[in-house]
Amino acid sequence: MGTFEPTRLLVTGGAGFIGSNFVRRMLTTKVARVVVLDALTYAGDRKNLDGISDPRVVFVQGDICDRAVVERVFTEHAIDAVAHLAAESHVDRSIEAAGVFVQTNVTGTFTLLDVALRTWGEHPTGRRFLHVSTDEVFGALGDTGSFTERSPYAPNSPYAASKAGSDLLARAYVKTYGLPVVVTNCCNNYGPYQLPEKLIPLVITNAAKSLPLPVYGEGKQVREWLHVADHCAALWAALTAGTDGESYNFGSGEELPNLALVERIADLVDDELARPRGTSRALITLVPDRKGHDFRYAIDSTKARTTLGWTPTRTLDRALAETVRWYVRSGR
Ligand SMILES: NC(=O)c1ccc[n+]([C@@H]2O[C@H](COP(=O)([O-])OP(=O)(O)OC[C@H]3O[C@@H](n4cnc5c(N)ncnc54)[C@H](O)[C@@H]3O)[C@@H](O)[C@H]2O)c1
Repeated sequence: MGTFEPTRLLVTGGAGFIGSNFVRRMLTTKVARVVVLDALTYAGDRKNLDGISDPRVVFVQGDICDRAVVERVFTEHAIDAVAHLAAESHVDRSIEAAGVFVQTNVTGTFTLLDVALRTWGEHPTGRRFLHVSTDEVFGALGDTGSFTERSPYAPNSPYAASKAGSDLLARAYVKTYGLPVVVTNCCNNYGPYQLPEKLIPLVITNAAKSLPLPVYGEGKQVREWLHVADHCAALWAALTAGTDGESYNFGSGEELPNLALVERIADLVDDELARPRGTSRALITLVPDRKGHDFRYAIDSTKARTTLGWTPTRTLDRALAETVRWYVRSGR
């Protein structure tokens, strides 16, 4: 435990949802330099890093597929650790246009892994590459069971397939070259700084504006939700206490059907705005289901809990109310 101490850390996608939360968390550590590399696509926003005045943080606008940019960042900043979060991340967009998902998630990850290899060499010591991925690589579950690290990959959406491809490239760089890579697969996240195209912030911001609250199909799909702060703590645990070549699943154990989640958020928004309960529920609108919509995801995070000493600290009950308050008060 605690065997690796990153000093000069590259965070890709640091202006996105999880990345910006992770950068904030890094400021509570002894890391000497945090270099954020982000292309600022529609999903990235420098404002997500507002309020950070720590001189350890350096922002570089650039594309992870651009080898020259990645090489320059590695050498200029003497990078010894990577937390790779940059990705195209929205399933619906991947169904509309998959090309950019393959480009960023597969080619971008390849570029980062390959530059790390060429810069650090084979079997380097004192280096680590944390590849951040999703539980969606495992496909869908029925009513019972949960994914372990040994579950077969069976991605169903172009997003999930592109993330699965990137995970397999990461594995190949470990097996072939001894690159010290740790892979993590997490369930759905929620919390501050998430773009309101994703379910939870979409429902909060629409409810606050009295706009329709779209729910796919009959809202029966089941998802597991982890607060982003708990995910960031897990990522730090994997980076510092993980074992090279291993993967770790992160989940909260808190599962619920989408409709039940939306109803809870609707009530919380009413409470926050001092409106009668039921006002926001009336806005719920069932819309045609997403193509190939996975029925249920659930994660078995026993390995992370026992070998990394990580455990989530927030319950959906409390943290969902905090999240609603954050979006309503920040006016997002
Ligand atoms: N959000 C979740 O619930 C969740 C759950 C499990 C895993 N993940 C994974 O965590 C990572 C971060 O997810 P997120 O929700 O914060 O995503 P996000 O969409 O909020 O942020 C992605 C960031 O990557 C940047 N980016 C996109 N393409 C880039 C490129 N080519 N070069 C450089 N930067 C680029 C964007 O500008 C943005 O800042 C992703 O790899 C995602 O697959 C997310």
